[in-house]
This record gives sequence, C-alpha cells and structure tokens, in this order.
Amino acid sequence: MKEAKLHIEKDFEISHTDDRLFSSFLEHLGRAIYTGIYEPGHPEADEDGFRTDVLKLVRELHVDHVRYPGGNFLSGYDWKDGIGPKKDRPRRLDLAWKTIESNQFGIDEFYDWSRKAGTKIMASVNMGTGTPKDAGEMVEYCNFPGGTYWSDLRAKNGHKDPMNIHLWCIGNEMDGPWQICHLDADDYGKKAREAAKIMKWVDPSIEVVVCGSSSREMPTFPEWDRKVMEYTYEHADYLSMHRYYENQGNDLDFLASFVDMDSFIRTLAATADYVKAEKRGKKDFKFSFDEWNVWYQSKDEPHDWMEAPSILEDNYSLLDALVFSGLGMTLLNHADRIKIACLAQLVNVIAPISTQKGGIAIRQTIFYPFRYLSQYGRGTVLQPVVKTPKIETKHGETPLLYTTAVHGDDDTVTLFCLNIGDEEMKVDIDLASFGSLTMTEHLCMDGDDLNAKNTFDNPNRVVPREIAPVAGTFKTCSVLLPKQSWNMLRFKVEK
Ligand code: AHR
Repeated sequence: MKEAKLHIEKDFEISHTDDRLFSSFLEHLGRAIYTGIYEPGHPEADEDGFRTDVLKLVRELHVDHVRYPGGNFLSGYDWKDGIGPKKDRPRRLDLAWKTIESNQFGIDEFYDWSRKAGTKIMASVNMGTGTPKDAGEMVEYCNFPGGTYWSDLRAKNGHKDPMNIHLWCIGNEMDGPWQICHLDADDYGKKAREAAKIMKWVDPSIEVVVCGSSSREMPTFPEWDRKVMEYTYEHADYLSMHRYYENQGNDLDFLASFVDMDSFIRTLAATADYVKAEKRGKKDFKFSFDEWNVWYQSKDEPHDWMEAPSILEDNYSLLDALVFSGLGMTLLNHADRIKIACLAQLVNVIAPISTQKGGIAIRQTIFYPFRYLSQYGRGTVLQPVVKTPKIETKHGETPLLYTTAVHGDDDTVTLFCLNIGDEEMKVDIDLASFGSLTMTEHLCMDGDDLNAKNTFDNPNRVVPREIAPVAGTFKTCSVLLPKQSWNMLRFKVEK
C-alpha cells in the first residue's frame, strides 16, 4: 500500500471559482444538435422538438454556459441562414465536417433550448468566411433592444425581448491550417480586434474571447498567443485554450495527462504576463479553456455529405473518466487564471450524454466526474500541501495522488482525489485549520476493468460507488483510496 499526506489550510486560497468554469459546448457537428438535443417526432420531444430526456440529463450536469455553434463548423457558417421561417432556410454544404447542414436549428432555437436547459449562451462569430460586419450584425440581432433592421427581425422571428447574450467567441482555432480561411497571427489579431470593437460598440456590456492556439502542440504556440494578446490587449477579455487527450498505448502516461494540462496553463500564463509587462498594462489576461476532453481523434473517419451522421461518437471507458477527472481538477486548480471552461462537447459528439435516434439517452462514464465537479467544485479553491509518492511518466515527474480542495460557501470542504497508481493508497488528511469536521460522503469511481464502458444495452456498467465515510467528529482523519480511482470526499465544518 502507498501512503500520502494532505494538509488543507483554509487560508491558502487560489481563487473563488467562476460559475462559467462548468460550461460545455454544442457544435453543428454530427448528431450533437440533430437527433441529439433536437429531434422533432421523438417520443420524448416537446412542442419545440427538443428532447426532454436530454434536457433532464443536461440539467443534472449543472452546466453553466453552452458554447454555440462551433467549432470548426463556425468558420464557414452564416448565422443568417439559421433564422426566419424554417421552410425557407437553405440547405448548405458544411465544408468543415463535409456534411449537409439543413439549418432547421439556428440561434433562435438555441436560445429557446438554453432557457429550457437552464444554461446561458456563449455565442461564437465566424472569423473564417465571416466578416467583422457580420459579427456586429449578429450582436445587434441578439442583443439590441429594437428599432433597427436586425433587432426588429429578431422580434419578427419570435423574440421581442433581447437575448442579452453576454459572452462571445471571436472565431475558432484560427491558427489551424484545417480551419476554413485560416489566418496567420497578425491577420487574425487585427481582424479579431476590429470585430471586438464593432461588437462592443453595438453592445458595450458584452465580453469577448479571442482565439489562442488550438493546442500546445501547434508549431506556432506560444508565438500565436503572444501576438494575438498584443493586438487585442485593450479590446478582448479572454484568450481561448483548447486541448484534447487520447490513450497512445500507455495507461499510466494517459492517466498523467493532468501534468501536461497544468504545464500548458502555466506556460500560457507566463506568455500573458510577458504581454502585460510589454504593454505596461494593469490587466491580467484571463483564459477561456473552451474545448477540453478525452478525444480519440486518430480513430475518426470521414462521412462525406450526409445530414447529421454519427461523427466523433467516442464511447468512454472508466480509464477515460479517470483521465477526464484529472483534467477537470486541473482547471479548478487554476481558477485564478481560468474563468471559463467548456467540456467539448455535450451530446453525442465526444460527449457525456449519448442518444439513440428515436431511442434512449444515456450517461457516459465521463458524465460523473463532470457532474460532481460541477455540483461540488464551486467555492474557494485552496492550494493543498501534498506529500505523495511520485513516478516518472512521459510528462516528467508525476504525483501518484492528485488533489483539488474546495471550500464551499456553505462551509463544506470537498476534496477531489485521483490516485493514478496501481496500489491502494492510505491518505492522512489534516483539516485542523477549519476546526472540527464530520465527513458526509465518500464517492469513488474505480473498478477491475479500466476498459469498462456504459452502452445502450448496459447503461449503468460504470457508475460511482459510495464508500462509508470516516465516523465521528475530527480535525484529522485517514482515508483509503482504491488503486486507479477518482474520489470525492465531502466534509462539513462543525465549529
Ligand atoms: O470539438 C471538436 C472540434 O475540435 C472542434 O470543432 C474544433 O474547434 C476542435 O478542433
């Protein structure tokens, strides 16, 4: 058995979490929208064609914002195709995913869906084939009160009151050569700055996210980020980050993915601090980690020119859920710099929720870490002092025990603990700075088969299990964490 020690000090505050850290993403891609959230004629569809079984699962995840409509799709999308009477909307080629877009779902439908889901919209504007003018007109359509061409058209299309969309992404992954009308950093930086100016003139209350590198593997990272922040320092509020992980054949390296994500964030924070110094500025650039997940990108296959085909429908294992939990915890551990984070994506496409066309909706394994991080990860994130055995992985020296500590506003303490080792671990926890506590819950995701998955035939194969909490009132306690497990330990401060 391995042994570790955790010292959780109430005053070692990293930052209070922003609710937007618990956000997600829906792209017009594969079956995310069509037969995912929207399926008129489905037995569980409501009067708008929204699947109520999916809405129920989305609410269970406590999702804050949902980024929409892309993604790579965005860079060829004309938002004007998706408004007005459905019968008049054009069918278009989507050049990003080589599919057919029916445009039966657009911003008005997404606004209605968001209200039912209890989520807010993080809208994105096209910086590929789109122009800063189109971006400003979309802000006008969505947010301007009325009395102008675009705002009156919104009223005519059923939304008299402004949608008041506060958060806007200016383009998507514009550093990537795969992007429709990809730009270099100078061209994107200038275009994004001008779009931000127009958008904020239309609605000064909005916040905007500009594109950072689409991954730290890009040859232009972090030069791209430096230049984009330099061009937009006075006009943008957040820089985006994207990162996906897949198992490349070594489970331990895969489990240690949180080390890579942590170093990505630190490197970008250093780049942002450099730009601040260069600008003699006062503003710390904050980050919107608006795409993160496990994604088996190397297994994707083309589906040429079909309407809503099954694309990127990864079926996640227990191992994937453990890796995923480490990534989610890393975002919380950087709550001082990361203010927005979107699990990419939400339904069917690399998602925690999977649907059958005409059939049921299920929770994938990654559903559970997101759900509990989202429910109990809100509050003040604390910097734990951790003494843990370490191991060498492809990411360098890696702790076997990875921890996130959150002091809830209701005077609870929640510890998320990932044991990536292949042995059980005894952890001594010192919580004395809080006074006396009781332990209310120990939830654990583990199992003998790391490859176990939830399927439509066996949807509850992988679910968290409850472990008996430590009894009594205490200032210190010891818990046992099973090998290769993700744990949520919850405590209540008694006095
Ligand atoms: O989320 C899937 C894709 O990943 C998005 O469309 C793109 O932004 C990223 O490369």
